[in-house]
Amino acid sequence: MTPEEFRKHGHAVVDWIADYRARLETLPVMAQTAPGDVKALLPSSPPQTPESFDAILADLDRIVVPGLSLWQHPRFFGYFPANSLLASVLGDYVSTGLGVIGLAWQSSPALTEVEEVATDWLRQMVGLSTAWSGVIQDTASTSTLVALLCARERATNFALARGGLQAEDRPLVIYASAHSHSSVDKAALLAGFGRDNIRLVAHDDAYALRADALDEAIRADLAAGRTPCAVVATTGTTTTTAIDPVGAIATVARAHGLWLHVDAAMAGSAMCLPECRWMWDGIEGADSIVLNPHKWLGVAFDCSVYYVRDAEHLVRVMSTHPSYLQSNADGRVKNYRDWGLPLGRRFRALKLWFLIREQGVAGLQARLRRDLANARWLAEQVQSTQDWRVLAPVRLQTVCVRHEPAGLAGEALDRHTQAWAERLNRSGLTYLTPAVLDGRWMVRVSIGAEATERAHVEAVWQAMQREAAAGAARR
Ligand SMILES: Cc1ncc(COP(=O)(O)O)c(C=O)c1O
Repeated sequence: MTPEEFRKHGHAVVDWIADYRARLETLPVMAQTAPGDVKALLPSSPPQTPESFDAILADLDRIVVPGLSLWQHPRFFGYFPANSLLASVLGDYVSTGLGVIGLAWQSSPALTEVEEVATDWLRQMVGLSTAWSGVIQDTASTSTLVALLCARERATNFALARGGLQAEDRPLVIYASAHSHSSVDKAALLAGFGRDNIRLVAHDDAYALRADALDEAIRADLAAGRTPCAVVATTGTTTTTAIDPVGAIATVARAHGLWLHVDAAMAGSAMCLPECRWMWDGIEGADSIVLNPHKWLGVAFDCSVYYVRDAEHLVRVMSTHPSYLQSNADGRVKNYRDWGLPLGRRFRALKLWFLIREQGVAGLQARLRRDLANARWLAEQVQSTQDWRVLAPVRLQTVCVRHEPAGLAGEALDRHTQAWAERLNRSGLTYLTPAVLDGRWMVRVSIGAEATERAHVEAVWQAMQREAAAGAARR
């Protein structure tokens, strides 16, 4: 494709995306496909001769879009908001179009320096002190793995330079609540701590990790000759958006010399709102934080920002120094390859930078506030409707609900919950994610897609009531 052909097809692609966004509301929210449907429409071997770009584009409508659940749809209430605002989509295009790779500062200086500035803007937006430095990782899963690797090396005084974990005489222990994200478990396992050394600390009635239970668990491990290493606190858990008490956890962590990593992947965006910052009280006592602008904030996936207080320690854990990557600017610049796992890096900062500039902090804040108000409105409706319950405090934009008609309990109630949610999702009207809370199924309504207005929440709430009542009547 020549640059001139690219100009023509590129315009067509932009038009296609703009049309897709404009007609989203007319499409089913959840994919109506069965397993294998999409593959059945694709040739099993690659074309031997070039195809026209128009044919490729046409297959997006014919094959791809019908096989997608639509995260940008105004009635998407599944999982968590993963907004992809169009300004950041353009930033992503430019990143790909530039086709540069940040192996070292010298290989693309602007890539590094825009990332420094954009992550520092975000730091200011979420109210963190200047003690923090940021780096963009692909996902929170990677950021949390990096955090636990750094914790491991601090607790062992750089065992990686000796025999690694295999040579340690005391097992190292990681602490989190049962409501922490599965990526914490995964990171602890992959970092070599071992299942036996992951403690799930008790939580309170609001599903927040109990600092007193953390202290007890640490003391028990110390008494048993183990080395407490790190605790992961979550600001906005996945199931209910519970808020672990960061300040109290930091106090316990500090007393016992643990690394404190805060997973604010989902809720970190809300820290742009001063009225939400209480959720982060004590955050300055943490060692590392992850927040995902690729969730609620609106940066096109993927863009996860990892903040550390001790950047030198991070670099010492992550750095390699092959001769071909050395330059005479080293020592005066950041080489982000030493701030995470991959060597090569995309110019991800562009999409964060584009988004912040195009929306302005005030624009981003207004949208987040709209979503919080919509969640509060829905919670009030649910609470004041017979047979419906809100099951967890609504701290942010997620409302956990259950329809509990008289006479239904236990597994029969589970079947009812799953059935009405499934029917609603299958209808194409919305996408809700059922999940288990305290051993029983419930339905999460996760509000916060960019296009979601109050009318969409109202429409889905009406549909939930209709579907649940019809299910109860059918029994
Ligand atoms: C609290 C929390 N932590 C971690 C993750 C994992 O995020 P990622 O997909 O960026 O690894 C999620 C997202 O689902 C989350 O909600």
